[in-house]
Amino acid sequence: MINLVHLEPRAREIIALYEYPKAAMLPLLWLVQENEGYVSCKAEAWVARMLGVALARVREVVSFYNMFHTQPVGRRELRVCTSLPCVLRGSGELMRRIQRELKIAPGETTPGGEVTLTEVECLCACEMAPMAQLDERFVGPVQLDAASEGATVATLVQDARTAPGRLEATPDPEPYIYTEGPVLSSRLMDADGTWLEAYGDYAGARKALTSMKPGEVITEVSRANLRGLGGAGFPAGRKWSFIPKAVDKPVYLVVNADEGEPGTFKDRYIMERDPHMLLEGMLIAAYAIGSHKAYVYIRGEYFLSAQRLQRAIDEACAAGWLGKDIQGTGFDLEVVIHRGAGAYICGEETALLTSLEGGKGFPRLKPPFPAISGLFACPTIVNNVETLSCVPFILRNGAEHFAAIGTESQGGTRLFCVSGHVNRPGVYEVPVSVTLHELIGDFTGGVREGRALKAVIPGGISAKVLTADEIDVVMDFDSLRAAGSMAGSGGVIVMDEMTCMVEALESAARFFADESCGQCSPCREGTGWVHRIVRRITEGRGKPRDLDDLLAIAGDMEGKTICVFADAAAWPVQSYITKFRTEFEDFVAAGRRTPSAEVAQCRT
Ligand code: FES
Repeated sequence: MINLVHLEPRAREIIALYEYPKAAMLPLLWLVQENEGYVSCKAEAWVARMLGVALARVREVVSFYNMFHTQPVGRRELRVCTSLPCVLRGSGELMRRIQRELKIAPGETTPGGEVTLTEVECLCACEMAPMAQLDERFVGPVQLDAASEGATVATLVQDARTAPGRLEATPDPEPYIYTEGPVLSSRLMDADGTWLEAYGDYAGARKALTSMKPGEVITEVSRANLRGLGGAGFPAGRKWSFIPKAVDKPVYLVVNADEGEPGTFKDRYIMERDPHMLLEGMLIAAYAIGSHKAYVYIRGEYFLSAQRLQRAIDEACAAGWLGKDIQGTGFDLEVVIHRGAGAYICGEETALLTSLEGGKGFPRLKPPFPAISGLFACPTIVNNVETLSCVPFILRNGAEHFAAIGTESQGGTRLFCVSGHVNRPGVYEVPVSVTLHELIGDFTGGVREGRALKAVIPGGISAKVLTADEIDVVMDFDSLRAAGSMAGSGGVIVMDEMTCMVEALESAARFFADESCGQCSPCREGTGWVHRIVRRITEGRGKPRDLDDLLAIAGDMEGKTICVFADAAAWPVQSYITKFRTEFEDFVAAGRRTPSAEVAQCRT
C-alpha cells in the first residue's frame, strides 16, 4: 500500500511557492515520481487531495506529459532520440543495436527490471547526435564505429545495466562552442566559470536599478533592436511596453526555457554554463515591467540546467541580487524554477502558461495577449532564455553597440545551433548579419566528408527547407522570412547530397503527429494523416495522388488553429514536396529510396 505521508512537508513547501495550489501540479507529480518511481492511481489521489482539485484533473495532466510513468519502470531509463538531426547521424542504427544488446523493444523493460528502453523525440542535444539520455544524463555522440573514441553502444548499454545516470557522477559533456561573438558566449566554454564569483558584478542590473527609470530601460532595449530569440522574433522592448501602466494586479515575468524545437540547444548552454547572465537579464526585465515574481519554465529533460540554475539563484539570493530590497534599492524579485514534463507544445507561450497553472499544455486564443491577461489572468511577459541573456550586454555597453553588431532590423548576435551533416556540429555565436552560406562554410567546417550540400533547415524543424542554392541569405528574422523560410529558434539542420528527403519528411511528420496537443481538429487529425501517408510512402506503398493529398491536407491545416503548431507542421510538408518533387515522385514510383539515398543509408 502506497503511503505518501512522508512527502507532505515537502509538498507543502512546494505549494507555498505558487499563488494558487493547483499551479504546483507538475512539481508534486515530479516529487511523487522521484520518490516512488512512477505515479500510481493512489498517488494521483494524494496529489488531488494536496492541491484541492478533482482526481480527474490530476489524471488528465499525468496522461498529457510523456515523462510521467503510470506503471513501474526499470531501475534505469534509457531514452534514445529519434528526431531528424539524430536520424541524420545514425540514430536508427543506434536504436537497432541497443535493442539487439538489451534484447528488448522500445517501451519494454529488461527481465529483472534493470533498464527500460524508450524512444523519444528531440532532447535538444542535437550537437551530440546520435545521442541518448540515461536517467538524467545526456550521452553522445554515441560512436557507431567501434574504432572511434568516446561512448559506444557497448559502453552505453553497460552503463545502463550498472551505473545510475545521475548528474553528480557525470563529467560535463565536451562543449561544441564557437565563442568569438561578444554578447553571449564569453563564459560558455568554461564550466567552472558558471558561478557568481566568476561572473562578477551584475553591472547592467546595477545601472538599471540605480540610475534608470523602468521606461528608460524599455527604451534602451527597444533601441538595441533586440528581437525575441525563441522563434517569433517580436521586438523585446515593444513587448515589455505592452504591460499596462496602472494595474492593480501582480505582474509576472515568465522565462520560456522549454527548449524543444528539434535542432535547437542554445538555451541549455546558457543555463548550464552561464546562468547568472540569464538571472541578470531577468532582473533587468522584471524591473522594467514592474514584476516582483518570475518563473523559469524549464523542459523536464534538462536536469542539469535546472540544477545549475537553482544553484545560481541561491548564490544570487545570498549576494543580494535576488530576494527582498535588492542591493538596497527597495526592489524585490523572487525567482522560482518550474520543471515541465515532456510536451513540446509547452514551448508555445500560452500553452506554457496553461501548463504553469497546473493544467494540460493547451494553447489559448489570443487576444487577450499575455501582457494583458497571462499567468493567473495577470499581466505577464514571456521571454526566451537567449533573449533575456542579451539584456545585460545592452545595459552595460549601450543600445547602439548592440544594434551595430547586427543588421538594420535586428541587433546583436545569435547562438546558432548547427546540427546534421556538418564537420563540427555545435553552438556558434555569430552576428545575425552572417549568411547561412558563411555559417556552414566558414564556421562549422562545411559539409562532412567533402560531400555536397543538398538542403538546410535554417530555424528549427518547423522552418521551411532551403535548397543548396538558396543559402546566400542573411540569418536575421526579416531576411529569412523574405527568403520564404524563417529564423525561428536558430536551429540550423544541414543535409548533405545523400539525404533521402522522403525519409527526412517522415521523421519531421512523426514528430508533429506525436507532439500535437490534440485541441484543434485540423492539427490533431491533419498531423496524423500527414504522418500516416508519408510513412506509407517510405514503406513502399505510396500512391501517385499521395503528394497532392499531402499538399491539400497541409493547406487545410495552415492558419486554421489556435496556435501556430499546425502551421509549423504544414510548412515542412509544403516545402519538402515542392522543392524536391521529383525525388518524392521517384520514391513513390519505385516504392523505395532513390539510389543516392541508398548510399546515404549505407554510410550512416
Ligand atoms: Fe536528437 Fe535533437 S537530440 S534530434
